[in-house]
Amino acid sequence: MTLEDTGAFVAPDQLPATVTAGDEWWRTAVIYQVYPRSFADSTGDGVGDLVGITGKLPALVELGVDAVWLSPFFRSPQKDAGYDVSDYRDVDPLFGTLEQFDTLLGTAHEFGLRVIVDIVPNHTSDQHAWFQEALAAPEGSPERDRYMFRDGRGPNGDLPPNNWESVFGGSMWERLTKPDGTPGQWYLHIFDRSQPDLNWENLWVREQFHDILRFWLDRGVDGFRVDVAHGMIKQAGLPDYTPPVEAASMGGSATDLSPGIENSVVHPDPPYWGQDGVHEIWRGWHAVLAEYEGDRVLCAEAWVDPLSKVALWVRPDEMSQAFNFAYMFTDWKAPALRRVIDESLEAFGGVGAPATWVLSNHDVIRHASRLALGADAPPQGAGIGPGSTVKPDRALGLRRARAATSIMLALPGSAYLYQGEELGLPEDIELPDAARQDPTWFRTGGEKYGRDGCRVPIPWEADAPAYGFNATGASWLPQPSDWDGYARDAQEGIVGSTLELYRSALRSRRELNLGGGSVLWLNGYGSSVVAFRNGELTVIANLGPVPVELPVGRVVLASEQIVGGVLPTDTTVWIAPN
Ligand code: GLC
Repeated sequence: MTLEDTGAFVAPDQLPATVTAGDEWWRTAVIYQVYPRSFADSTGDGVGDLVGITGKLPALVELGVDAVWLSPFFRSPQKDAGYDVSDYRDVDPLFGTLEQFDTLLGTAHEFGLRVIVDIVPNHTSDQHAWFQEALAAPEGSPERDRYMFRDGRGPNGDLPPNNWESVFGGSMWERLTKPDGTPGQWYLHIFDRSQPDLNWENLWVREQFHDILRFWLDRGVDGFRVDVAHGMIKQAGLPDYTPPVEAASMGGSATDLSPGIENSVVHPDPPYWGQDGVHEIWRGWHAVLAEYEGDRVLCAEAWVDPLSKVALWVRPDEMSQAFNFAYMFTDWKAPALRRVIDESLEAFGGVGAPATWVLSNHDVIRHASRLALGADAPPQGAGIGPGSTVKPDRALGLRRARAATSIMLALPGSAYLYQGEELGLPEDIELPDAARQDPTWFRTGGEKYGRDGCRVPIPWEADAPAYGFNATGASWLPQPSDWDGYARDAQEGIVGSTLELYRSALRSRRELNLGGGSVLWLNGYGSSVVAFRNGELTVIANLGPVPVELPVGRVVLASEQIVGGVLPTDTTVWIAPN
C-alpha cells in the first residue's frame, strides 16, 4: 500500500487549523515536569532537593527536552506537598536555598534548558503571614478582606456559608475559633483547610502577585506554570451548588474529563471554577511578563471544558498555553483521539496559541497504568490502591503508554512530560495506607486513595539504595521492590527500552520540526487507526486488534518491534520517505 492509496491527500479547505506561526520557544517546546520531592535527593533525608535536580540536569539534556517545569519548592508546611505556600519569595529549607535555586537556573541555562516555576495564586498556606494577619485582625478589616471570610448560616452561624464541597473532600468551609474560645467566621478553602482561598477581587492581592512574578522574573526564570488558573474568582453571592453528575474533582464534567471525551456532556462550570472575571487577572500577568526581555511563558492549569472554553485562557493578551486535560483523559480509542486532536488544534489554533499535549502529571494516575484501565479508570484525583477492584495490567499499560507517547510527540505544538514516564514507570498501586500523604486520603477518610501513587521517588540506578534517588535509601514514599528494571541505568543504551524510545522520539521530533508542523489526516486505514502526516513524516497508530499493513518508507520510530511490514495492536510507528 502507498500513502496515496490511503487517501492521504485532503483538500486544503478541509485541513484542521495549524499552529500559528510565531517563533517563541514555547510554541513547540517539550517541557519536562520535575516534582522536586521525588526527583533526586542530595542530602539523603528522603526528600528530593534543588542540588539533587541540578546534578541530574545532564540526564534531561540527554533525554532531549527543551524546558523544565519545577513543581513548588517555596516555603511551605507541606500539607499539600508544597502547593500550600507560606512564602512565595523563598525556598523551603527542605529543598535548599535561594542561592541553590540560582545555581540550578544558571546551570540549566548553560545547558540550554529553560526553567519554569509553579506559582500557586488561588490560595496560600494558612501559615502565610497574610493569613496569620487576617486571623489576628477584626472581622471586616482589610486584612480579612484578602481572603474569603464569611459569616455562617443558621441562627448562630453554625452552618457553613454554602454547600460547596472541597476538591479534597468534606466542606469547603472551616470555622474559626475566636481568642475567647467562641466560634467565629468561616473561611473558604477549595482544597485542604490549610489552604485558604485568596480574595482575588482585592486589588492589594493582585499587586502582591505582580511583585511575586517580578521577583522570579528578575532571577531569570523563563515563565510560570499557574496552579488552579480556573479558580481565583467565585460567582457573586457564593450560591449553593450541587453537581449534576459526580464531578471530576478539579473541574470539568465527569463524563467529559474522566474517562474520556467520547461521550462528553458539557455541564456549566460550578460557581468557583472558570468564572469570567479570571481573565482580567491573566491580562494583568501578561502585562507583567511583557515588562521583561525574551519570551516568557504562562501556562494555565485550567480544568474547564470544552476545549473552546480552555482556549479563552490563551487568547493573545492572556496566557501562552494551557494544559490539554481533554487529551490526557481521552479513551484509548482511535475515533476519540482523532476528535480530540482536531478539537485541540482548532480551539487553540483559533486564538493563535499552540496546542498542548500531556498524558501524565503529579495529579493523575500515570498513563502507563491508566491506559490499561479504560472505562474502569477512577475519576481524576481518586487514585488507585491495594483495595481497588481494578488492577491495571502492567504490560498492556506500558505498551499503550509507549504507543500513546509516540502519537503525542509527533503532534504540532508543545508537549509536557512528567518525570519517570520516560522510564515507563507505572502507578504504584501497592502503597501501604500508613505511608500515604495526600490530603485527599485523609479528608475522605480513606475512601479515595488520592495521588501518592504517581509521586513515588523515581529510580536512577537498579542496584543502588533508593534506586539511586539518594545515597541513604530513605524515601518519603516507599519505592516498590520491583522497580529495578525501570531504573535509568538499566535502560540506557538498551535498544527498545522506554528511555531509548523517548530519546529517539525527541531527537526526531526536533530534527523533523514536528512541534512546528501540522496534522494531515490519512484516511483508509480503518476506524481503529490514528494515521496522519506531519510534514514529511507519516505517523500510524494501531489501536485495534487487527494488524495493519504499513506503507513503504523508512521506519524512524516504532513503539514496539515491527516484523514483516505490519503494525501490531497498540503500536505506533513513524515513517519517513525512503
Ligand atoms: C493543583 C496542583 C495540585 C494541588 C492543587 C491545589 O491542581 O496540581 O497538586 O493539590 O492545585 O494547589
